Amino acid sequence: MPTHLAQKYGPWAIIAGGSDGVGAAFAHELATRGVNIVLVARRAPVLESFADDIRAQHDVEVRTVALDLSAAAAMSELERITADLEVGLFVYNAGSDDYSTEFLDKDLNNHLSLVHRNCTSVLEATYRFGAPMVARGRGAVVLLTSGAAWAGGATHATYGATKAFDLILAESLWAEWHPKGVDVLSLVLGATDTPSLHRALGARATSRADLADPADVAREALDHLADGPTWLFGNENPTGGSPFGSIDRRDAVLAMSRGTAGTDTATARH
Ligand SMILES: NC(=O)c1ccc[n+]([C@@H]2O[C@H](COP(=O)([O-])OP(=O)(O)OC[C@H]3O[C@@H](n4cnc5c(N)ncnc54)[C@H](OP(=O)(O)O)[C@@H]3O)[C@@H](O)[C@H]2O)c1
Repeated sequence: MPTHLAQKYGPWAIIAGGSDGVGAAFAHELATRGVNIVLVARRAPVLESFADDIRAQHDVEVRTVALDLSAAAAMSELERITADLEVGLFVYNAGSDDYSTEFLDKDLNNHLSLVHRNCTSVLEATYRFGAPMVARGRGAVVLLTSGAAWAGGATHATYGATKAFDLILAESLWAEWHPKGVDVLSLVLGATDTPSLHRALGARATSRADLADPADVAREALDHLADGPTWLFGNENPTGGSPFGSIDRRDAVLAMSRGTAGTDTATARH
């Protein structure tokens, strides 16, 4: 059931990585609930076409910002472009790694770019857009993370490390901002049916029956914005701890490396 998110948090939401997959699902769900949206992505034609779809289906305003979240000035640019808006919600969605390889088999610049998009820009987004929320005493921030954050494993060194950064950042900000009226949610996903997952898994993705629906992810996350710090989508205990429980970290890393750690951990680590 639609909630009054705009009244509770503010009239505008930014979705960083909002033109396909989980980000697009957040856009539809936020628009359904009456929130105006700023969509950020790199491919301008895809972004504009998706924004037109949202405008056609929902009675909200939509702005598009074509920029690369891996670029050094991305967040200062986004802050400048949206300076006239009251941004009450920020969903930092972009974060997948389309191809897992061993650490040294990937170009160093690819690693650095992933770290910038998944860590530096996330930190900047929470700092730049979180400060006005805290000052107003209302707002919500969602950081997307992954089962890859629970333990290290072969072929997801940098990706997993960035997702652990996002998990801890969101949990820490929840601890600081929850008493000040700002909800922060660290949203842990397992394998979810998105273009990015299909690029990562190829034909293996189409044969899988266990993929989460992005629409369900967005709906559930927005229903539980106030239930942070951490929400494990698809888990029978969504506010619970690591699915690895108390097992030795070495065993967790070995299980993650073999891809035997379950759908919400190793098989979701892209
Ligand atoms: N899908 C899964 O199975 C899964 C599993 C666990 C966790 N997650 C997490 O869930 C989140 C969403 O995943 P997803 O599968 O929907 O795909 P995603 O590739 O993380 O996000 C796709 C969206 O982000 C944009 N984007 C990607 N890189 C960008 C960049 N450098 N600058 C600006 N925009 C960028 C894309 O548009 P452009 O390409 O046009 O830029 C698109 O709009 C991620 O944080 C991921 O780590 C996903």
